[in-house]
Amino acid sequence: MRIVRAKDYEDMSRKAAAIIAAQVTLKPDCVLGLATGSTPIGTYKNLAAAYEAGDLDFSQVKTYNLDEYRGLPGDHDQSYRYFMNVNLFDHVNIDKANTHVPDGLMEDYEAACAEYDAAVAAAGHQDLQLLGIGNNGHIGFNEPGDAFVKGTHCVDLTESTIQANSRLFDSIDDVPRQAYTMGIGTIMAARSVLVIANGEVKAQAVHDMCYGPIAPSCQASILQLHPNCIVVADEAALSLCPAE
Ligand code: GLP
Repeated sequence: MRIVRAKDYEDMSRKAAAIIAAQVTLKPDCVLGLATGSTPIGTYKNLAAAYEAGDLDFSQVKTYNLDEYRGLPGDHDQSYRYFMNVNLFDHVNIDKANTHVPDGLMEDYEAACAEYDAAVAAAGHQDLQLLGIGNNGHIGFNEPGDAFVKGTHCVDLTESTIQANSRLFDSIDDVPRQAYTMGIGTIMAARSVLVIANGEVKAQAVHDMCYGPIAPSCQASILQLHPNCIVVADEAALSLCPAE
């Protein structure tokens, strides 16, 4: 794991966008695994700005998102499909047919989850997987538990995640209780992983991800085993980590 220190959110966002931009420049038809949440919004803004400036071309890029709330249609303003459109896809020249987010309304979800994994594999797996991290160390929606689940699956969200994400909904009762998420195997198959984190609220999770035991109680800790994982985090998120 390589840790890159950023001064603050803006610096983290610029550094993360530069890494993703390098991937797209070096391999214009790359496969990006993408994330939602507050953390990547600045990264996506920087990517959109680089596109506007004529420095990036997304026309051949394929994307696969990590997760989606179960039961939300893609046009719901809290769905992750909607988030991706508004925060990135509508601002760059990506072909929407090349963008993939798990379908929150999938009916036979076990088959649909298996198809999602098969599609990621058929695309050649992610060249670069962008990740945020939950306050409880989750990645995607892989919540703390007794095991690392390999493939895309349906999860029950923990109370802490429902609480954390309720800030984006009108009321906590509106937060879906379940979600679909890429599994840890789907994530670990990426050739490179970029984790971004900011703020003191992430400090414990970032510490446990980088320095804790590799255990499903902190799902992100598995990334210590990834051969090419970069963590870009600001000073507050790194405040519990040893200064290197
Ligand atoms: C959400 C998403 C994750 C995200 C995390 C942190 O629940 N499922 O993919 O990384 O929680 O979100 P935020 O960036 O808003 O802190």
